[in-house]
Formats: sequence, C-alpha cells, structure tokens
Amino acid sequence: MWDSNADLLARVDKTKLPRHVAIIMDGNGRWANVRGLLRSAGHTAGVKTLKQILKTAVNLKLEALTVYAFSTENWKRPHTEVDFLMHLFSDYLEREKQEMHANNVRIKFLGRTEDFSPALQNLMRESVELMKNNTGVKFNVAADYGGQDEIVRAAQKISRRVQAGELSPENISAQIFADELDTAGQPPVDLLIRTGDEMRLSNFLLWQTAYAEFWFTETPWPEFTPEEFVDALIDFGKRSRRFGALKN
Ligand code: FPP
Repeated sequence: MWDSNADLLARVDKTKLPRHVAIIMDGNGRWANVRGLLRSAGHTAGVKTLKQILKTAVNLKLEALTVYAFSTENWKRPHTEVDFLMHLFSDYLEREKQEMHANNVRIKFLGRTEDFSPALQNLMRESVELMKNNTGVKFNVAADYGGQDEIVRAAQKISRRVQAGELSPENISAQIFADELDTAGQPPVDLLIRTGDEMRLSNFLLWQTAYAEFWFTETPWPEFTPEEFVDALIDFGKRSRRFGALKN
C-alpha cells in the first residue's frame, strides 16, 4: 500500500469531501523557465507531483480524480514538446500501472485516442484492462481531450441512435446526454483545481463542471503539494452549495 501522512489526512473532515475532483495541472513550463531549465524538466517534475496527489486521493478514498494531461489544442505545441509529453505519458503508465493497480485505482482515459501511437494506445488499453475491476479511486486521465470535442462526440452518438429509430428527439434528456460522455457513470465534478496562476477552464470538462466549485492557486504544478491539495479540499468543505436553489 502507498505510505500515508497521517497528520495530513487527519486535518480533513471526511464527511465534507468532494466526490469528484478535477485538476488542471498548469505552470510546468513557467516553473522550468524561471529556473533556467527546459520546459520538459517542468513536465518531468509535474509527473512527480501527480503521483503524490494521486496517492493522497487514494488515502482519502476520493471517489474520482480527473487530471488534464493533454488537450486537443496541445497538438499545436512544438513537435519536440509533444513528443516529450507522449514519452512521459507512456513511461508513466509503464512504470506506475502495477503500483496503481496494487492500490485499487481504476484508470480511465477521457478524450480521443486514435491520434496516439499504436504502442501508446496499446499501453492505455492494457492499463484500463488491468485495473478494470478495481473499486478504489476512479482516476481519469484526460488525454487528447477537449470539452467541446467530447460534447460533439456525444451528440454524434445520440444522433446515430435517433437515426436508427432507437430514440426520439423529445426523449433526449440531460441524463441520456451525460451517459454518452467519456465520464459516463461517474459523478459530476464537485471541485475544480487549477494551478499555475491562470483562471480559466481551457475547454476542460465543460459539461461536468456545471455546478463545480473552483479553486485557483498561483503555485505552479511542480510545486503543488499534498498539503495544498488538502487546503483546497478543506476550503471546499466550507462552501455553501445551492445548485440554483435557496439555502435551507
Ligand atoms: C501545463 O503546463 C501542463 C501540460 C500541458 C501537461 C501536463 C502534463 C503533466 C503534468 C505530465 C504528464 C501527465 C501524465 C499523466 C504523465 P504548461 O506546459 O502549459 O505550463 P506553462 O503554462 O507554464 O507553459
């Protein structure tokens, strides 16, 4: 099992935890630049942070953790950076999959997969297969993911069902729509965290964050710690969530 920091975990009121936390892991490049390092060094450091945060999510028994690893827009970065991120992604899966499995994590990938190399696609499939019966944290890695793209793909699937006569347009509900998204069967996002001193959604989980609480920090992702993660979770526990209704 993964080691845990008992003092840290004890700070959290387990009854006030979000079910689903999503994270935009931003600021790797800037963190590296100010240190005179290559952007790739920032991404490498970012993977170490990710491991610590996943561990904390496992120890706190969060239901779902979703991280934005690569967006549909990230293909516009220089080839060298895209290649580096792909290698980092496959190294991470290769190196960590057994340990995630031993910790009852169930990995899933959100987004398109067809533009990744066949080797990476295989590794993604293998990881999903290995962990498919696990009952712990649902760990969603958004890779070649865009919220608008996900919604368009869901609309296409629903249109095909209508065309096949299985569904009538009047019966398309929010639930039917949610069931066609990559996150089907998972709770909506309760808390969205973005590191790296930017305050925007960047096409992440547009549907699922409809009633999410937002938590922004200046801390660049490589410096984000389990302590700050717990601060965000505690802050979430203090929010008054009304979902459009009045406070009772
Ligand atoms: C944003 O920082 C980060 C990314 C585009 C990639 C995030 C990837 C990782 C943390 C590691 C890879 C993930 C896995 C699952 C292995 P940025 O490059 O936009 O930073 P900047 O805004 O400072 O330039």
